[in-house]
Amino acid sequence: MLPQRKIKTSASDSDREFNKEKDEEIELKLRPAHFDQYIGQNKVKENMRVFIKAAKARNEPLDHVLLYGQPGLGKTTLSHIIATEMEGQLRITAGPAIEKAGDMAAILNDLNKGDFLFIDEIHRLTRTVEEMLYPAMEDFALDIVIGKGPTAKSIRLDLPPFTLIGATTRIGLLTAPLRDRFGVIHHLEPYSLPDLCTIVKRSSAVFGIEITETGAEEIGRRARGTPRIVNRLLKRVRDFAQVEFDGMITEEVAKIALDRLDIDAMGLDTVDIKILTTMIQKFGGGPVGLDTLAASIDEESDTLEDVSEPYLLQLGFISRTPRGRVVTKLGYEHMGIKIAETPAETKQPGLIEEEI
Ligand code: ADE
Repeated sequence: MLPQRKIKTSASDSDREFNKEKDEEIELKLRPAHFDQYIGQNKVKENMRVFIKAAKARNEPLDHVLLYGQPGLGKTTLSHIIATEMEGQLRITAGPAIEKAGDMAAILNDLNKGDFLFIDEIHRLTRTVEEMLYPAMEDFALDIVIGKGPTAKSIRLDLPPFTLIGATTRIGLLTAPLRDRFGVIHHLEPYSLPDLCTIVKRSSAVFGIEITETGAEEIGRRARGTPRIVNRLLKRVRDFAQVEFDGMITEEVAKIALDRLDIDAMGLDTVDIKILTTMIQKFGGGPVGLDTLAASIDEESDTLEDVSEPYLLQLGFISRTPRGRVVTKLGYEHMGIKIAETPAETKQPGLIEEEI
């Protein structure tokens, strides 16, 4: 086949390509490369530093690491740092992408000594795929079955020493045999406001954005304890600052921009507000089961459980009871509704109660 010549289509296409590359470059710059640039998660950071130092001194691979916590708390970022600090290569994949045992065998067979295999959403591996990991994690071995039925044979191939880093938002969905094969298990916590402010200021410096202390705080306060959200909000506030103001992010600019994005003063978005409103108006404040609630607001139960619910629980706006989720006094106060004002529209015991 003849080599393809790149055809220049139009100025806007190449501009777009240039901007895309620039965005990717900026994303890379935003991501801390070493522990000393990584803000927050102090306990995890300090412990990992010790484990890395010890493994390096013994010239051994790092024990397998499991990271769990809400989406956006930096599980991937931390994995990049761990691999960099150990001077290893990071290979990235995700549970749902590994469909068959053969896919997993191919990934494992392609590893080199000292590599790090990052499997995101590890709770979503199928049982047969997961079982291939057991000998790989324990003995650096790959068991392959050849043939079928009574003549089937299993052969064992050696794998180079490697480290598996598993990430999950749902530790409860991991099987015990898989969980027990991780030597290090860390829970990533939501970030404090001071840490989020520091991240906003660091990212602003990378972007070349001018921002005041109170501007950074306003963005941090509405970022639901999550670095990924804080960086996303910063980019959008920058757009408003640039187009409608003089480019500088002040508290006033941040407030106006975030209000326009429908992110309220506590960081609740339209989905969170819909959840609270529905729970109060349709279910008399609860108790209501997750699936019933998800169906009522036309959202996936998983999204509710992984994204909205942890933040509402963290703020104390809802609580979990054996009979379902309920809106708390704080939740009512945030919505500006008095508890007695909302008799349940559909409160029929037995109809809306579900196991949580
Ligand atoms: N960007 C995203 N997460 C970060 C973190 N924990 N520290 C510094 N910058 C970040």
